[in-house]
Amino acid sequence: MRRRVIAVLVGLVLAVALATGILSALALRDSLMSQLDQRLLASSQRALGAQHELRGHRDAGGPPPGLDVPGQGTGTVSVSVGPDGTLSGYIGEDGTFLPLTAAQVERLLDVDPGAPATVDLGDLGSYRALAVTDVDDGRVVTGLSTEDVDDTVQDYVAAETGIALVAVAGAATAGGLLVRRQLRPLDEVAATATTVASLPLHEGQVALDERVPARYTDPATEVGQVGAALNRLLAHVEDALRQRHDSETQVRQFVADASHELRTPLASIRGYTELLRRLPGELPEGAEQAIGRVESESARMTTLVEDLLLLARLDAGRPLAREEVDLAVLAVDAVADAHVAGADHTWRLDLPDPEVSGPALVVGDEDRLRQVLANLLANARVHTPAGTTVTTSVRCEGDTVQLHVEDDGPGIAPELLPRLFHRFARGDAARSPGTGSTGLGLAIVDAVVRAHAGRVAADSVPGRTVFTVSFPAAPAD
Ligand SMILES: Nc1ncnc2c1ncn2[C@@H]1O[C@H](COP(=O)(O)OP(=O)(O)OP(=O)(O)O)[C@@H](O)[C@H]1O
Ligand SMILES: [Mg+2]
Repeated sequence: MRRRVIAVLVGLVLAVALATGILSALALRDSLMSQLDQRLLASSQRALGAQHELRGHRDAGGPPPGLDVPGQGTGTVSVSVGPDGTLSGYIGEDGTFLPLTAAQVERLLDVDPGAPATVDLGDLGSYRALAVTDVDDGRVVTGLSTEDVDDTVQDYVAAETGIALVAVAGAATAGGLLVRRQLRPLDEVAATATTVASLPLHEGQVALDERVPARYTDPATEVGQVGAALNRLLAHVEDALRQRHDSETQVRQFVADASHELRTPLASIRGYTELLRRLPGELPEGAEQAIGRVESESARMTTLVEDLLLLARLDAGRPLAREEVDLAVLAVDAVADAHVAGADHTWRLDLPDPEVSGPALVVGDEDRLRQVLANLLANARVHTPAGTTVTTSVRCEGDTVQLHVEDDGPGIAPELLPRLFHRFARGDAARSPGTGSTGLGLAIVDAVVRAHAGRVAADSVPGRTVFTVSFPAAPAD
């Protein structure tokens, strides 16, 4: 826009300078020509008078009578046709009479009597010539050089061009400064918009206090109106975000409270079933099985409630413990547990050599990190058939510590992959009743890993499913 405004300004100045330059040069030339014509008329009358006076007294080779009279200036040309024949010549620089060539004479005699005309006299240049008829078919043609007029007009055009160039340069510089100054508020508006665009508006509590400075929001100017409109928009968005955050917080608080409140009745249910079992005597038929179901369902519900409570706490940004944890140690424990729980799977462990890369230390909450490993290994056990090999590896790569859990099971359905880490996302098999699957395991993995400033990703094709978790390594000191 800046460039366009300056280009238009320069174009306008150039057009105006060109138009005024051409018109004034033409007017100047016109005026100088009419002055020259006046002088030509006077010179022609002097020449005609001399022709009358010297009629019949001129030598055939001598200068024409029109040059011989006082008042004729240097460069004046004259051709006279009369009783002494055709005489021609011009007054040279030093005042002497010089002859004209036959071609020059012919051109001068071609001039129609009456009005002055411009003729080109070859070496002598451009001339203004006036032909007058004399008695007895005689004729006198007088000419004055247009050189002075041409020179003056040329000098004028050169001066005009110089002035126009200076004006254009001045307009470009002043225009540039002015436009930059006028549009500076727009830069501020753009800078504010860019800063807001880079804010993580999609997550957590948003402090949207970025605004266009008040001095650039003057409603009297167009740019100020843009700044003011942006500020209004930002205030509106801030309000909407705050309301959204408040309602999200309320929902989280509700889930956390509900989960918390459910813990006590669940503990009671478990306690009473245990009491039932301890009662002396035989239980009636079917009661044994019913108590078993109550136990397993309440255990499942306890897990679900614990998971929901954990997610609600992570969502609320509750601070986690921050201690140095060796991921390799956690991996050893988790694989050992998985071995016990899934004896029909093959469990492999691939750990870094602490001598080479040092311990795989990360800073975080040990219990939560154990849960990440447990959830990933539980998935590799529960969602794959017996005989599947599961490899857990820990790697120290630069300033990250990576954990891979890989299995050669049937893999994750491609349509599930994009929402794998969403809450309650489960595969078809996991939906069937009695699997004990809730679809919160990977959502918890994702939330815990994020709370540790890490990343988790899943890659799955039939025969190879790998979960990669990377955490920032604990600082060396
Ligand atoms: N290693 C794996 N192989 C095949 N499918 C998997 C694997 N890991 C996860 N999945 C699929 O991803 C879905 C989501 O896993 P997630 O751990 O979140 O829930 P879940 O295991 O079904 O239930 P929960 O872990 O809460 O008991 C699972 O239902 C399963 O279909
Ligand atoms: Mg799971």
